[in-house]
Amino acid sequence: MKKILHNLVNYLFFCGIPRKNYNEIKAIVWARNRRILRITSVLTAVFGFALLVVDIVKQGHSFIPYIFLTIGSLIIYFFVMTLGRRFKNAYFSFAVCYGQMVLTIVYALLLSIQPSSYSIPATSVIIFIALLPITIDDRPIRMYGFMICECIGYLIFSYHFKDAKAFNLDLTNCISFTVIGIIMYSVVCFRNVKEISQGTRIEKMQNNLITTLATAVEERDACTGGHIVRTEQYVSQLVDKIRRKEKYSKLSRLYFRNVVMAAPMHDLGKIKIPDSILNKPGKLTSEEYEVMKKHAVYGADFIQKSMKNVDDDTYLSVAVNIAKYHHERYDGTGYPENLKGEQIPLEARIMALADVYDALVSKRPYKEAYSKEKAMEIIREGIGTQFDPELAPIFLEIVQQG
Ligand SMILES: [Fe+2]
Repeated sequence: MKKILHNLVNYLFFCGIPRKNYNEIKAIVWARNRRILRITSVLTAVFGFALLVVDIVKQGHSFIPYIFLTIGSLIIYFFVMTLGRRFKNAYFSFAVCYGQMVLTIVYALLLSIQPSSYSIPATSVIIFIALLPITIDDRPIRMYGFMICECIGYLIFSYHFKDAKAFNLDLTNCISFTVIGIIMYSVVCFRNVKEISQGTRIEKMQNNLITTLATAVEERDACTGGHIVRTEQYVSQLVDKIRRKEKYSKLSRLYFRNVVMAAPMHDLGKIKIPDSILNKPGKLTSEEYEVMKKHAVYGADFIQKSMKNVDDDTYLSVAVNIAKYHHERYDGTGYPENLKGEQIPLEARIMALADVYDALVSKRPYKEAYSKEKAMEIIREGIGTQFDPELAPIFLEIVQQG
């Protein structure tokens, strides 16, 4: 009995996956909902406008619900595109999702009290309000409740504003389409949530594997303990800031996610550098330094070979660029290819800042750890020569606040 109850709660509140897993993917689910809301709000606005035009041409008198639907949908689109970008938490998406559903039901109700509403079959409106929630993934209990409330709400209005024959038809249609809606919702939402959950788990496993491998390489290098984790954090913070800047707003969320995911691989090439050089106390000779410099190319080759079967080309190229070009300098005097300015891939320019700053504030065999202020001063001096003049001030701001 306890198990049945547990499964039922799991089913109704977390789409059949464990609560912990559901909480982990909530943000992804709501981001997906936001994308769908963008599309549905445009489609409903176009739909409302088209009906308005038909109504005007046919000299009907039902323009109020059509105007309401068009303007309401455009307002929702506006909210999704402006505030939705800023407030990425689930509650905003939640409010907008339900806002759109409320808009739809009010439209249906307005339509039902219009004298010429019979020109549009009531069934189509019922289908619209009963099936729209399927586009959104949410806790089943909320959605089932909403679908049932929509159905009851529509029937109350139908009872008051339509004759007995029309009401009976609405009653049959509402109940049958709500049941269909609930069944379809169960199938679609549960499948979507399960897929997202599985994808997230695989991605997490891959990330763990990459971090483990990078850490194993780092452990050979006795002086850089914690470097991988810290640089990944700096990259993540920097990416979070720059994605809001106008210049980088066209780059996708996936690109920035790839940059953060690939950051731990920047020094994988050190796996091929001999211990005598990697752990040499004191400064390297110029010959040794030349060998050390090769870790950038080694790393890129290693990633290319080990990921040649990965479908995601964008991830592969970001990872390769980070490994290969994170020692390039903005003025073209870096290595391995002396790339200059924006010839250096953005992901490598981001990585360079995180990598150098962490090296500066860490103790190395050839130097003591610098203070935060001293390290910031060195980064500041390197703006335009070593570092990207647009990214470096943003990075310094992050360090300052941190
Ligand atoms: Fe490096």
